[in-house]
Amino acid sequence: MAKHLLQTGDLTKEEIEEIFDDAKDFLIKKPKSLLKNKLIITIFFESSTRTRSSFEVAAKRLGAEVVSLDVSRSSTKKGETLYDTAANLDAMGPNAIVVRHAHAGVPNILAKYVNCSLINGGDGAHAHPTQALLDLFTIKKYLGDVKNRKIAIVGDIKNSRVANSNISLLKRFGMDITLVAPPHFLPKRDDVKMSYSLKKIIDEVDVIMSLRTQTERHKLPFYASLKDYASDFCITKDLIKDKDIIILHPGPVHRNIDISDEVLADPRCKVLEQVKNGVAVRMAVLKKLIMENG
Ligand code: NCD
Repeated sequence: MAKHLLQTGDLTKEEIEEIFDDAKDFLIKKPKSLLKNKLIITIFFESSTRTRSSFEVAAKRLGAEVVSLDVSRSSTKKGETLYDTAANLDAMGPNAIVVRHAHAGVPNILAKYVNCSLINGGDGAHAHPTQALLDLFTIKKYLGDVKNRKIAIVGDIKNSRVANSNISLLKRFGMDITLVAPPHFLPKRDDVKMSYSLKKIIDEVDVIMSLRTQTERHKLPFYASLKDYASDFCITKDLIKDKDIIILHPGPVHRNIDISDEVLADPRCKVLEQVKNGVAVRMAVLKKLIMENG
């Protein structure tokens, strides 16, 4: 078992299945003493609504102590380097540190400076492993075996760590992936199919994963208004009709740009279930990393 979870490739398929088995149990049971006397520190250098609270709820449900560093008030503001911050926190003896940073690669570097497990809670446009795990967990609940099943990942794929982690994870589990976006949102890669048109692929797919336009990572505005983007890429009732599909989104959703109000309220839309599953999957990840790494 790898000590850190920096990208989904740090886990074998067998380890992922074990995590999913545990996560299924954790949807029902909350074994309060499993991580008793363990300490988990969360440091989020970039804003987060779901991921940070999800990790904190997960840790608490297993009985661990949680300390979350408020970066805006910490010594980082006083010029302390990232490495010194991490090394100092590590010296307090946590069992795991969860880190999010706007720059790709920061968790991989920090992992070299700490003795505990380091979990990547999202780094730049690079990776967001626990999000991809909870997405696959949610997809498997509806499709069972995902091999050869079809998914369209729609939106600002080039700038999305969620897309990156999902592409590598879902490919490993045999899913047939099509990236759907305007050309400037598509990454340069030749190992997955790509399309500029949702309408062309909608009849073939079992799952749609919609992603937010990552406006904070655009150097230049791509659209005069996000409404122009929405007219081609918003997931609407008119597009999905009564098809047998599920719709995912990692959040935060741009309403009526990524997904319409009507589809968000449709039972095929699993956005809130992803959030619920996310806590269970993170409980299982914390359990595995902390209990197997001593
Ligand atoms: C995403 C993130 O921050 O990477 N959200 C999340 O963690 N659930 C996606 C996003 O910001 O669009």
